[in-house]
This record gives sequence, structure tokens and C-alpha cells, in this order.
Amino acid sequence: MKAHIYKFFIAILIMIAADSLYAAPPDTVWLSKLDVSLATTGWGQKGVNTSCMGNPIRLNGKEYRSGFGTHAPSLLYIKLSGDAMRFHAIVGVDDEEKKTAGSVIFSVFGDGELLCQTSTLVSNGVSEEINVNLVGIDTLLLAVDGTSDGISFDHADWADAYFLVRGTKPVAISRPLEPAYILTPKAPETPRINGPKVYGTRPGHDFIYRIPATGERPIKFSVKGLPKGLSLDKSTGIITGKVENAGRYETTITARNSKGENSKKFTIIAGNQIALTPPLGWNSWNCFACAIDQEKVKAATDAMINSGLADYGWSYINIDDCWMIQSDSDDPTLGGTPRDENGNMKTNKKFPDIKDLTDYVHSKGLKIGIYSGPGPRTCAGYTACYQHEEADARQFADWGFDYLKYDWCDYERIAKDHSLPELKKPYIVMNEALEKTGRDIVYSLCQYGMGDVWRWGAEVGGNCWRTTGDITDNWASVESIGFGQAGLEYFSGPGHWNDPDMLVVGKVGWGPALHPTNLSPNEQYTHISLWALLASPLLIGCDMTQLDDFTLNLLTNNEVLDINQDPLGMQAGRIFKEEGIEIWARNLEDGSKAVGLFNRGMRQATVVLQRSILNIVGDYTIRDVWKQEDIGPLGESYSAMVPSHGVKLLRIYK
Ligand code: GLA
Repeated sequence: MKAHIYKFFIAILIMIAADSLYAAPPDTVWLSKLDVSLATTGWGQKGVNTSCMGNPIRLNGKEYRSGFGTHAPSLLYIKLSGDAMRFHAIVGVDDEEKKTAGSVIFSVFGDGELLCQTSTLVSNGVSEEINVNLVGIDTLLLAVDGTSDGISFDHADWADAYFLVRGTKPVAISRPLEPAYILTPKAPETPRINGPKVYGTRPGHDFIYRIPATGERPIKFSVKGLPKGLSLDKSTGIITGKVENAGRYETTITARNSKGENSKKFTIIAGNQIALTPPLGWNSWNCFACAIDQEKVKAATDAMINSGLADYGWSYINIDDCWMIQSDSDDPTLGGTPRDENGNMKTNKKFPDIKDLTDYVHSKGLKIGIYSGPGPRTCAGYTACYQHEEADARQFADWGFDYLKYDWCDYERIAKDHSLPELKKPYIVMNEALEKTGRDIVYSLCQYGMGDVWRWGAEVGGNCWRTTGDITDNWASVESIGFGQAGLEYFSGPGHWNDPDMLVVGKVGWGPALHPTNLSPNEQYTHISLWALLASPLLIGCDMTQLDDFTLNLLTNNEVLDINQDPLGMQAGRIFKEEGIEIWARNLEDGSKAVGLFNRGMRQATVVLQRSILNIVGDYTIRDVWKQEDIGPLGESYSAMVPSHGVKLLRIYK
């Protein structure tokens, strides 16, 4: 009996000890004690207990002794090994940027899933507290993204940031990246005519089209059924002139070289609509931002031809912000005041001869774009069109521009509010001015999606309209923008496209210093596949003179581009979504379907495509679009292993 009592008390003691062990306070591990130098950031220092400028961390007037000061876009990966319990931080834009316009979003991802996200936090605004459960999570990602206004002044602090841990301590790690891999075979030496099947112009307007064709040069071109007013240069394949009469012209293009020949039907529609397929080209912003000048635009033009990209249909060379003179400048070293005595925009030291530049681009058979906005200034503070709309549109047309990106930004100061009439007004004004020029100018609205622009962008004359804020070269940005397009497919079609912003592959940087995109190879395949499915304008955002083989491979798969350029113009929609897996599909003109199997999770996953969600009956073949090879017949379902953040892009055809 005594022995029993003794055992009983021992058992009680063990239970109490176990309980107190269980309840032992977890260790606190400060984020700033980790190797935050492994983070990727947009600018400045990776501040250990300081801001990205090296100042003490201050949010909302309060100073914090501990934290990580960074700058958007910022990514920091941390291995937790499943032993962390919570992560805590106070986050916001550092007070050192109080007088400026920083705005950021903080996100915390656990094993690829979003655990929490702040609202948009701004300079001079409130900070937010993050307190997330980490139990069972292996890899954590702390991300800070800039918002629609770009990344300027986005000094972001993870203040008072710590982990509660039992067991293995968290360790900062480099971003886990797979090696770059090329999937697409090289184009054959025999001629292959690429590019759209349909092309819109207005009768009597200047027409320029360089037939995109791969294959060994020299190639001899011929076109049957060319409308009156157009002529072909047989050796360059450049068609110029003005279509005399409205109509639909079914032409046949033939390209011949010493290895063989290829013909393709090409419909020219001379009516009242241009951009019948999404524009393909280059834009200066994501690489050079304000470090742009005339020579760089010429170099991009040469690279478009010499890299072979033009042979796949890439045809616009678009200048973004900062080409003009600062609105308050009278600095003679730059070119003096922005406008002459008649109020016309002047050329300047960075762009000394704009007409010469546009002629140069046109001589290559390419088209050229310009940037401005409805406010007194552009986003970067340069002279814009406010109260000079008609003169500026005329000037753009006289210079020979074929594309205008028209960016809201500073019009914020003019607009009374964000009511629909106020949002539409400046775009209607410029559209009328453009119509008067008698030139085919693609009209690209840029106002980040305000007032659901997709519902009225076409009505105010837009050929495309940005649906989101600015993209940056990180997964959080590309993922949220790209997959955030679900539901917008109803508002896009030939002549009027949703635009989820420019491409961030290759060497980008928003200024003089460039870096390779922070997207992993799989993320880049996802980016291009999704944008192709979305029938988005594709504007390459990198330095064209530094294209590497991997980037070129991404941009020169004619079957991927055919999906983007399909004449039906039906933007893909999301047809399946479950735990990080998404399937997007669109119908194509020939009765086939383009289907993207996406894996947004942090681990590779098997994605199952059920025939039933495609609504098709009969015999179909599945084609791997990136590899350009058939996989086999479609049964009741098709499964593929898709890497983390990767894609399998399919064409399912009869
Ligand atoms: C805005 C636009 C960007 C770019 C910059 C230029 O942020 O959204 O695409 O044009 O302005 O300042």
C-alpha cells in the first residue's frame, strides 16, 4: 500500500515537471540577430537595428531599438524548420521619409502561402502590428512591396521584430533558386512567318509593318492581295504606305530562303480599330527609368533587330517618363524651359533630335512610343500635357509616334475627386486630341485601375489600360498582379486590352544600375505564360543590349506568342483554384484551348487537369507549349508535376 502511495506521488511529480517544461517560456530570437544581409532589397542599406539609411528606426514618432530597416521591394527568406511559434513585428514606412511619398505593403509567407498582409502603409501614416502563428512552418518569407507609385521613398521597417521559438533557431537563408533552364528548341533555318494573323489600321493613316520571320537570311518576301496604297520591300519584308479604302483584306505572305519557303494568311483590316492583337515591344521604364536618353533608345532599337526579337513580332520601342525637361526647369544645360514661346514641347540635351529618332526606328520597320500624362507634370516631375493636350498630341504625331502611354499621376492635383466623370475626363480630352492627328497611335491608359477602368477604358478610346499599380521584379509583385486579373477577362478583346504592367525579365533596375531580375527561372516562365494567357500587351522591361540566352528563350517562343496574339483576343480566366494550384484557360481561334497549370505554392506539386473543366468532347491532343512538343492524347484527365512558382503551359487541340 505504501509503495502504491509512493508511486502515485512520483507520477504526480512527473506530471507537474512535464507540465512546467511544456509551459517553459519560448526563446525570443530577434530578427536583427539573423543575417539580414541575405535579403534582396530595392535600395540603400540592409539596416541592422537601423533604417535603410542607417538612422535609428522610427515609426509614427516612436523609436525602436531593434528591427530590420529595408527598402521595397524586399525579400528575406528564413529557415524555421518547423520550430518557431510566432513572429511579431511593428511595420511601416520609416519617419525619415515623413515628408515624401513612400507607400508599401508588408507580407509574410509561410511555405509559399500568404500568412498575413498589411494594408498600404504610407509615409506619415500609421504603422501596423504583425503577429502570426508559425507552428509547423519550414520556410518563411518576409516581403515588402512598393505600390502603384513605384518604389521611390519606400523605406520600410520591420521594427520590434522577433520570433518565439522552441527548438531550432531561425536562420536567414539566400533565396532558394533553381538553375535557369531553356525549354524551347531553336527556330528552324527554313523560313517561318511569325507574328499576328490579323492587323488593324485606319484608312489613309501611315502604315508600317515589318513581317516577322525567322530562318536563315537573306529571306525574300512576297505578299498576295495587299490593299491599294501599301507596298512591300521584298528584301526587308517591311510594308509601308496608307491603305486607301476601308475594308478587310485577306493577304498571303510568303517568305523564301535557300532552305525552303513558308506562307501565312495575314488579314489587314482597314477600319476604325487598331491594336487588334496586344502590342508587343519594349519600354524604357523598368530598366532605365529616368536614366533614359536618345542613344539608349537607339540601342534598344538595334537590339530588337539584332537579337532576332523583331522576327517574332516584337515591334514597339517605347520611351517612358523623363524624356522631356523638368517642368520647373530653365536650366540651359538641359535645354532651358520645357516649352517654347508658342507653348510647344521642346527637345533637349537627352533627346536632341526626336524626329531623327522616330525616323530611325521606322527605318527598321519598327514603331515608337512616347509617354506623358494629363497633369501638369509626369510621375517623375517632368513636363506633361495639362492644358496643352491638343498641341502635344499634334507634336507627338508630327514627330511620328505610334503609341502614347498617358499616366494619371500628377492629375491627382487637378481632379476634383475620383468620381467616374472626373476619372474619365482627362482621357477623353486626350483621345479627342489624338483622333484629330490622323495618325494610328495606340492609346495606353495608365491610372492603375482606378474606378474599374476596365469597364470604361474602351469607351474613352483606350487601346489598353493598366489594371494595377506598378510591377516590380519579385514574386510577391508578379504573383499578386498576375493572378489578381481573375474576373477581368470579360472586359478585354481586340482593340482594347487589360494591361497588368510591363515584363520584369532580364536585367532591370529603374535607374542607371541594373541587376538581373529577382524572379527565379520558374517564376519567369510563370510570368510570361500568364501574361500570354491574359492577352496582355507585352512590353519587355529590360536592357535590350544585355539579353542573355535564358531571357531570349522566354521571349522567342512563337507558340507562346501565338497564344498572346490569338485573333479571338479572349483573355484567359481562372477555371480552377485550390491550395496554391490554379488553372487558367482561354479559347483560341482554331478551336483549341490554351491552358496554364500554375503552382503558387513553395513545393512542387502534381496538378491534375480534369477534361470536364474544359468543356470539351472528342479527340484532343495535349501539347507542351514551352517545349513545342506533343505530349499525347487527352484522356479523362492529365497530370503534371509543376515546380514551386512554376507552370506547365499547354495547348489542347483537335
Ligand atoms: C508610374 C507608372 C509607371 C511609370 C512611372 C514613370 O508609376 O505606373 O509605369 O510610367 O510612372 O514615372
